[in-house]
Amino acid sequence: MNFDRFYAERAACMKTSEIREFFKLAEEPDVMSFAGGFPSADYFPVAKINEVLQELLVNEGKTALQYGPTEGSWELREYLAQKMTREGMPCSAENILITNGSQQGMDLISKIFLNPGDVVIVEEPGYVGGLGAVYNYEARRIPIPLDNEGMRVDILATQLRKLQMEGCTPKFAYLVPNFQNPTGITMSLERRQEIFRLAQEYDFLILEDNPYGDIRFEGEPLPSIKSMDTEGRVVYLGSFSKVFLPGIRVGWIMAHEALIHKIACAKGSTDLCSNSLGQRLAYHFAVNGYIEKHLQNLLSKYKAKRDLMLSCMEKYFPEGVTWTYPQGGFFIWVTFPSGMSARKLLLKAIERKVAFVDGAGFYVNDNGKNTARFAYSEADPQKIKDGIAILGELLHEELDSQRKYASGGF
Ligand SMILES: Cc1ncc(COP(=O)(O)O)c(C=O)c1O
Repeated sequence: MNFDRFYAERAACMKTSEIREFFKLAEEPDVMSFAGGFPSADYFPVAKINEVLQELLVNEGKTALQYGPTEGSWELREYLAQKMTREGMPCSAENILITNGSQQGMDLISKIFLNPGDVVIVEEPGYVGGLGAVYNYEARRIPIPLDNEGMRVDILATQLRKLQMEGCTPKFAYLVPNFQNPTGITMSLERRQEIFRLAQEYDFLILEDNPYGDIRFEGEPLPSIKSMDTEGRVVYLGSFSKVFLPGIRVGWIMAHEALIHKIACAKGSTDLCSNSLGQRLAYHFAVNGYIEKHLQNLLSKYKAKRDLMLSCMEKYFPEGVTWTYPQGGFFIWVTFPSGMSARKLLLKAIERKVAFVDGAGFYVNDNGKNTARFAYSEADPQKIKDGIAILGELLHEELDSQRKYASGGF
């Protein structure tokens, strides 16, 4: 049966991301995969979870397995309000709504704010899940490039003036200020302040997505954009996925109380409530200080992997290839010489059982063909060594053949 005539117009915007396709490949055990931005499953505290789950089921089974409030469990909301307050974002439990992962937060925010054709400012390159969430609601995405300090605020200011001349105000800017997916870049304090100032001047909202902020290996944490906000202009998304477990699907939205109410209305008709058992588990682990301890353990492990991947890139990648030096998170962003196709390299790499994500999917327009995202979070150290060495070989071959071609060798 052909369903085309049944689809709503917005369904035309809904496409599977190529990155998700690579997840399938990444699951094959012999592949050296740097593709998925997954936490390492080797670090999941499975034995401890088993123990806590047993206790939970005996003591709280009836509530843990029941539907819960749409806004989420009150205890977890209170815990998160205290955490946010400690991190310079004073709030109360009424400002928190629990989501099935922060991805759902992006969908709900898009759902309540976006009409077809509304403008959303996005990072370029940007997180595919965020780009997709706003596109699903038929938004017009305005990509603003990044440099090593995050979004180029000078280009943003020019774009905002241009949009103003068209009589157009963005609804919001979607930003990942810490260890951004896909680049690993952290936005400087000055840029955070300037973006917030521009949001006030041009009157748009900011959706600040921070799933990686706690995974900092070095340097001082920077104030969130939300911490500069006293009027409710910034909506903040948090998640337990990267610091604890993605499979329980627990994240949160922190926002003005009026917004929380509207988001709860939208969420009610989406899924009634978030995963009750996952919320109980996250609360138990968080309130007993276990996540904090677990995080310390994760930091040393992820840092070692980051250091290893960076040193392998130094050792094996030829001159002309550059990459970012993330201070935390999961990703390194690689730029190949202009004119080189990361997709072609990927196809060759796959034949040698190495996978990464070529960069084009992180761009709204037809850019980024010579870029790629490498996640060091999931692969084990031997695979990082072997995989980057193979890529080094392929890159040398590719660049040698380009040089021969340029010098008329063919
Ligand atoms: C920037 C960013 N935001 C949100 C998410 C989704 O996280 P969650 O599991 O909380 O839905 C991811 C996952 O990779 C991400 O990289």
